[in-house]
Amino acid sequence: MRKSSPYRPVSLFLFVTSLAGVSHAKTDFKVDILPLIESRCLKCHKGPHEENGKMQKPKGDIRLDGAWAFLKGNKETVPVVPKDVTKSGIIQVTTLPKDDDKFMPPEGKGDPLTPDEINKLKTWIIEGADFGGWEGNLDGKPAEAVAPAAKVPLKDREHDLLYQKLAEGLQPPTEETLKKIASGGAQIAALQVGSPLLHVDFLAGVTKCNDESLAALTPLKDNIVHLDLARTEITDAAAKSIVLMPRLTRLDLRKTKITDKGLGQLATAKNLVYLNLFGTEITDAGLASLAQIKTLRNVFLSDTKVTDAGVAKLKASLPKAEIVGNVVITAPAPKPEEMKKGKKAK
Ligand code: HEC
Repeated sequence: MRKSSPYRPVSLFLFVTSLAGVSHAKTDFKVDILPLIESRCLKCHKGPHEENGKMQKPKGDIRLDGAWAFLKGNKETVPVVPKDVTKSGIIQVTTLPKDDDKFMPPEGKGDPLTPDEINKLKTWIIEGADFGGWEGNLDGKPAEAVAPAAKVPLKDREHDLLYQKLAEGLQPPTEETLKKIASGGAQIAALQVGSPLLHVDFLAGVTKCNDESLAALTPLKDNIVHLDLARTEITDAAAKSIVLMPRLTRLDLRKTKITDKGLGQLATAKNLVYLNLFGTEITDAGLASLAQIKTLRNVFLSDTKVTDAGVAKLKASLPKAEIVGNVVITAPAPKPEEMKKGKKAK
């Protein structure tokens, strides 16, 4: 495992320059992003084409050869969701443990992206994933993608209003504050250039993030809106640092040791919209605490100990929320080849 600390100053630098009002060079897709995709991903992720007399299809039904395709994806995964690092497939698959079946590029099929390169992708997505006029391959672009459905702007507006409200009267953290926490391994970025609102993750070294790393973020507690702790070593003890963050809208606790006890402390969250508990040990008792967080709109509970009845009860308490519970396997049982699907990465 590479040490995460050498990369910390990179994101800090990015942030400080934007704070200082120095004209911040926005990520240039064609210069900073496209070459990464072309060299590491495109071989397997371009539209149907002939190779050695054989028709080749994009692997995993994911194409990265056109701007529209980045935003479309397959049935489950969208490579890029602008402003949303957690939901963006290209970040998910490049930050998985290297032995995961879905880690990209697949083992032995190319060099993994470096933390620096992943940071570049993330910054570009947080900035809004501007393709800078690049369209790429338009073959196969569905007609509806030309004029996106009208519901998108509405959601966008709701989202923008919330962040506007949260930013009101808030000062960006001082350089001094940022320096103080600079050694914790956290990667910190402003949501937008000049915004006092912060996105924090530990993707450069999830195993180095523990309860103390979270306590160390306390000087930034008023500014943190996105907190990605997926696969880190945090426990219930981290909850007392998390509850101190009044503007938190997104919390990712996937595959952590958080339990019902820790969730109990989060029940007072005022602005939490998104909560991911995938792969944790939480049970229906934890859901009772979540029922009190009326701002929740997306809750992920797959691969936990919750029951269908517990999820149904939570749905009743949070009628506006989209809640994804454990997948129920109904008869007939899955065929053996379906169970194997996803394991093979040919
Ligand atoms: C050698 C071929 C190869 C390369 C190179 C490659 N991929 Fe993949 N990719 C695959 C295959 C095969 C799948 C389908 C895996 C599966 O469904 O289990 C896939 C699936 C995906 C998915 C969808 C995962 C899902 O959950 O549906 C994404 C996103 C993805 N790749 C992104 C990338 C990115 C980003 C890169 C470059 C950093 C990359 N891939 C490089 C072969 C490749």
